[in-house]
Amino acid sequence: QFPLPIPPPLPPSATYTNETTGKSIDFYELDIRSFEKQVYPNLGTTTLVGYNGIAPGPTLYMTRGREAVVRFVNKYDRPSSIHLHGSYSRTPFDGWAEDVTGPGQYKDYYYPNVQPVRTLWYHDHAIGITAVNAYFGQAGFYILSDSTVQDKLKLPSGDYDVPLMLASKQFLPSGKLLSPENERDSLFGDVNTVNGQPWPYMNVENRKYKFRLVDASISRSYSLYLVADSNPKTRLPFTVVGADAGYLDHPVPTTNLVIAMAERYEIVIDFDKYKGQNMTLMNDRNFQTNPDYPATDKVLRFVVGTSTSSSNGNGDIPSLLSDLVIPNPQTTVDKTFEFGKGSGGQWLINGIGFEDVKNRVIAYPSQGKTQRWRLVNKGGGWSHPIHIHLIDFQVVARTGSGRQGVTPYEAAALKDVVYLGTNEQVDVIANFAPWSGVYMFHCHNLVHEDHDMMAAFNVSQVDL
Ligand code: C2O
Ligand code: CU
Repeated sequence: QFPLPIPPPLPPSATYTNETTGKSIDFYELDIRSFEKQVYPNLGTTTLVGYNGIAPGPTLYMTRGREAVVRFVNKYDRPSSIHLHGSYSRTPFDGWAEDVTGPGQYKDYYYPNVQPVRTLWYHDHAIGITAVNAYFGQAGFYILSDSTVQDKLKLPSGDYDVPLMLASKQFLPSGKLLSPENERDSLFGDVNTVNGQPWPYMNVENRKYKFRLVDASISRSYSLYLVADSNPKTRLPFTVVGADAGYLDHPVPTTNLVIAMAERYEIVIDFDKYKGQNMTLMNDRNFQTNPDYPATDKVLRFVVGTSTSSSNGNGDIPSLLSDLVIPNPQTTVDKTFEFGKGSGGQWLINGIGFEDVKNRVIAYPSQGKTQRWRLVNKGGGWSHPIHIHLIDFQVVARTGSGRQGVTPYEAAALKDVVYLGTNEQVDVIANFAPWSGVYMFHCHNLVHEDHDMMAAFNVSQVDL
């Protein structure tokens, strides 16, 4: 086993003054290029394509209220488009799939950084090749914080606030990755990686830690639980404190956490009672339609030190974490979208795929108005995590034969991805704001997205 790598932070390369506001604006620069790395022990090197020569890419730590421009220079031989997942970016900076930056070109993306603090991630979104690009390494963390929020909540911070990017991969005997290029349904992978490393371990102290989880797999979703290795049958409690759109309304203790592709959850684990022990973050077998392999039930091992932590890290988690801006309740369903397979084997939303350029704008919410959308999984033994760009939504109902209801941690959150399990129907409510424009929504099984389970909605300034 190998230690957990932590993606390094990227400092801004310059700071300018925004002439309109007089405020500082930070400039960052990243490139897209391929590189070789020893990833899987005892196999050959793996060819990856990442940001600044690493995968996951560097972590961009942003301060709320401080704008940023991030330049992405494409030094690879395929087009790219960058989506900052979790940001209400204006349309030119949202990573529209056809707005690609070709080999040898660069694009500057503007990010306002004024949303509530949250864990975001940046990843490729190029038309038809998003799965391949994200899978080979074009993904990284972008963490928006605000010291006044942090000072008030006193949750674990600094070295005790750890980003964990989960991704399941499949390695060939050569050590190279099996490419999802020719897949039409999914590539689940038989190897769980965290921050790029297969089945790593992490040395921790006997205190509380906060972990920022994102599932960056292209197809695998996880049902996580925590055990002490000495007693693998007993699921230990941990606390969910954040989700896609930042802190939950209140902390939610649980012994199980479902995290699907592109979802983010922040959890607090208290290692205080486990000095000198090993603990493992596990993944349930037979979860939804994910195929199991010999070790896909293991994700990450924690090795708790034997000496007493010198830091003061076991304060209580506050009983209120944030004031979520919940959209107005509404029982009328404005739009119903069915996610399923077309007769030609392609993945469609209401029978339409993104390639159908004339028909792919399938909703026209008015700017600033609330809508309730019903997402229906048409079945066929597949699950679909659905991501809606621009907005944070509230998950208000889940029915059907899959899981039961809205989970307690979904109910206390605002989200931008919701897991639509096999045969499920989910209702979400959102305020379509702040900007007008045409935005994408799609399945975040990236193989489905590429083949063609993506559509668009047009947030209009006038009521249509
Ligand atoms: Cu995380 Cu449209 O994607
Ligand atoms: Cu899907």
